[in-house]
Amino acid sequence: MSVQVLHVTGARPNFPKAAPVIRALDRRGVEQRLVHTGQHYDERMSDVFFRQLDLPEPDVNLGVGSGSHAVQTAAIMTGLEALMLRERPRLLVVYGDVNSTLAGALVAAKLEIPFAHVEAGLRSFNRAMPEEINRLVTDRLADLLFATSPDAVAHLAAEGVDAGRIHFVGNPMIDTLLANLERLDVAHVRATVRLPERYMVATLHRPANVDDAGDAAELTKAVHAAADQLPIVMPVHPRGRATLAAAGMFDHPQVRVVNPLGYLEFLSLVRGASAVITDSGGVQEETTVLGVPCLTLRPDTERPVTISHGTNRLVGRADLAAEVRVALDSPRPAEPVTPPLWDGRAGGRIADVIIDFL
Ligand code: UD1
Ligand code: UDP
Repeated sequence: MSVQVLHVTGARPNFPKAAPVIRALDRRGVEQRLVHTGQHYDERMSDVFFRQLDLPEPDVNLGVGSGSHAVQTAAIMTGLEALMLRERPRLLVVYGDVNSTLAGALVAAKLEIPFAHVEAGLRSFNRAMPEEINRLVTDRLADLLFATSPDAVAHLAAEGVDAGRIHFVGNPMIDTLLANLERLDVAHVRATVRLPERYMVATLHRPANVDDAGDAAELTKAVHAAADQLPIVMPVHPRGRATLAAAGMFDHPQVRVVNPLGYLEFLSLVRGASAVITDSGGVQEETTVLGVPCLTLRPDTERPVTISHGTNRLVGRADLAAEVRVALDSPRPAEPVTPPLWDGRAGGRIADVIIDFL
């Protein structure tokens, strides 16, 4: 008998999105398998999430590693095609907007195996972002589209996706955050990293910020002006480490550089932070739910709901220091306002739709 559901994961942001879906399907007795493409492979970018989020060991790891977009996507496709011809799952599930997502979508579509996209419909309308290409192609081909926000539903409808395939289910990444809130220990992690009571967290890895030496130099100037106001802890994504180091990012006395952190350690620091500086997609959402001011160093976001219903602001590099000052001086609302259906139950809703589909 063929397996019912095959999940494709591969990069850090996939893991907190997949965990609640896998758990909810498990509770409902669905037979499932988990593939790790190997897009991310460092202990701190991958294994730590499996341990902390109680994810099952992947049944298969394709071990593709790093490469150019074409090399990496093709390697994932080659591995997945062979696997799916063997397993013939009744449904493939892909997550987010990384190359592992796109590769899964293309292979499933060509083998005529139905697939679901978790986090469908997000649009930055910026095709210079590799993720935007991945989102557009994946959503064009998907059979089930799970949206995290009303704007995502509207984008899919405007692109002509049949309404019967779109399901507004909330945000599984937030299920994971809410399920782990009690495990976040701000004081402990702050002591481990030797941070004072008031500090900021910065995480930066988008190609537009960290790939080019000129961008990295501007970014460094901006972050240093912010660090003049309050110490910043910066868990550095491997992508930007060399370029940011060459630009002098880590030379400011108030910038505390650390390796990528585990999920619980990172979100503990975010929870206790006075503000967060980021270009991450997921972190814009998590700060919104935690009620922590988030300054996103990007010209656009595919997650506008974190601005309309959350704590996020888009800022330019030249404006960062001034925006940090405003964020640090502004009183926080007593209760964070959160986007609709970001209630910790998205995984269950997704599982119910999948079961109907099967
Ligand atoms: C990928 C996603 C991006 C996501 C990010 C999350 C794509 C196109 N991009 O970007 O959307 O926001 O993951 O973190 O899929 N590296 C390591 N160790 C690892 C993984 C990567 O050292 O475990 C280094 C390698 O030098 C590699 C570089 O990071 O070349 C980039 O990795 P890659 O997976 O290609 O893209 P990310 O920048 O991580
Ligand atoms: N994250 C983490 N440790 C870190 C940085 C981020 O656990 O040092 C988590 C973060 O809380 C979120 C996910 O990784 O759950 C987001 O991944 P990332 O920023 O790499 O990708 P994006 O969301 O931008 O695609």
